[in-house]
Amino acid sequence: MIFRRSLVRSLKIVIVVFVIHSFLAFVQFLRPSDQVRHAQNGTYRTLDTKDDLILSDAITKASDSPRSKISQSRVMKIMDFNPKPNCAHRLKFKKCEFDACAMTTNPQEADILMFNAVNMKDLIVPKRPIGQIWLLYTREPITDRRMQYLNQSSYHGQFNWTRTYFSDSTFLSIYGLLIPRKRPQKDYEQIYHRKKYDVAWFVSKCSTSSRREDYVHRMSKFVQVHVYGGCGNFSCGSGGFDMGGSRDECLHKLSEEYKFYLSFENSFCRDYVTEKFFNVFPDIDVIPVVRGGAVYERLSTLDTYINAKDFASPEKLGRYLQELSRNKTQYLKMLQKKDEYDKIFPQHNAGCELCQAAHSRSPRHVFDDVYSWLTRPGNCWPPDDLSTN
Ligand SMILES: *[C@@H]1O[C@H](CO)[C@@H](O)[C@H](O)[C@H]1NC(C)=O
Ligand SMILES: *[C@@H]1O[C@H](CO)[C@@H](O)[C@H](O)[C@H]1NC(C)=O
Ligand SMILES: *[C@@H]1O[C@H](CO)[C@@H](O)[C@H](O)[C@H]1NC(C)=O
Ligand SMILES: *[C@@H]1O[C@H](CO)[C@@H](O)[C@H](O)[C@H]1NC(C)=O
Ligand SMILES: *[C@@H]1O[C@H](CO)[C@@H](O)[C@H](O)[C@H]1NC(C)=O
Repeated sequence: MIFRRSLVRSLKIVIVVFVIHSFLAFVQFLRPSDQVRHAQNGTYRTLDTKDDLILSDAITKASDSPRSKISQSRVMKIMDFNPKPNCAHRLKFKKCEFDACAMTTNPQEADILMFNAVNMKDLIVPKRPIGQIWLLYTREPITDRRMQYLNQSSYHGQFNWTRTYFSDSTFLSIYGLLIPRKRPQKDYEQIYHRKKYDVAWFVSKCSTSSRREDYVHRMSKFVQVHVYGGCGNFSCGSGGFDMGGSRDECLHKLSEEYKFYLSFENSFCRDYVTEKFFNVFPDIDVIPVVRGGAVYERLSTLDTYINAKDFASPEKLGRYLQELSRNKTQYLKMLQKKDEYDKIFPQHNAGCELCQAAHSRSPRHVFDDVYSWLTRPGNCWPPDDLSTN
């Protein structure tokens, strides 16, 4: 009896909640288009207009729903609009919380059309169906000249979302993250003594906006640097060097024979740190020497890498590496600290992230001028460590 009464009571509560909820959703849906917030300085504006919303979306939005309430009423189609169809990215949705998504090759049926920021040259942009979301993505530094094709007024107010390494992108696309791990047992004395050389650098781009080539040239008067690949005199693997996998012969050589590796980025850009840094984690027994625009302190503890920024000139860094190379205690302390980290690749969740966003159709915004947003002051800058001796 008591049980039945409480059952009736909870049923009533459920019905009342449902009615209120539906009413609020309905009111929200009826609300006129409003609040188009403009940002004149090259950022995005938030859209509250419901012009391209279908009913089910409006209700989902209105309830300001927790993830689980977003309905997966149909399969969302995503297309990477690449001039070379064979090179188009294929996102994966298996094992995602929201998995009702599929890739398509037909831009007219795509819910999300993805554009690669370095592939915009001579692009014939397809007619945009109502409600289609445009996403611009890149992991390249914006000093890449190919991005200039984005500097067109026809792209103003077109891109809803961005996916880059800039922390204020709609979605983040980063090369890796470091996570703490238990340090493995290693014979560090033996590691130190087997190393024959000081510094290695694997590099394919010989002339860069960070002028790392000038930096290394000056540095190498104080510490020996072996340059692998087309820009130098050393080679291993098929392309002169290879940093592709943890088991390849170049990384092995690096780990066996060298004390330091130059993880020098080709551009100084905010938040920009590439595989050049992450590939020596875990268990490649070298200390990375970094030079780039990211705040490396946010990625890892100090004493797991050396930052060129902390040295007034390339000569000073060269001298320091030479010193540290000879100081077994200090060198191994650093290497052991580095061994407390492993890397992960969070960008492998791109499919899951976009699928969920496709279903929730949020965030709702549009970039007034995505090119200005990408290239705004402070995103990338020229080197400032080459003027002193
Ligand atoms: C420009 O952007 C900054 C943030 O990036 C913001 O604080 C400022 O209000 C914006 N100015 C205008 C005029 O929109
Ligand atoms: C972008 O386009 C505008 C207008 O055509 C031009 O004035 C400006 O110099 C261009 N910016 C770059 C970086 O090419
Ligand atoms: C490669 O070797 C040549 C000849 O010994 C030398 O002049 C040049 O500086 C070396 N290049 C690099 C990048 O070390
Ligand atoms: C090695 O480095 C440590 C820590 O900086 C320092 O105390 C020590 O004197 C150095 N040893 C030599 C031989 O330079
Ligand atoms: C995407 O941008 C278009 C064009 O500005 C706009 O009409 C549409 O409402 C935006 N959609 C979302 C989900 O922000």
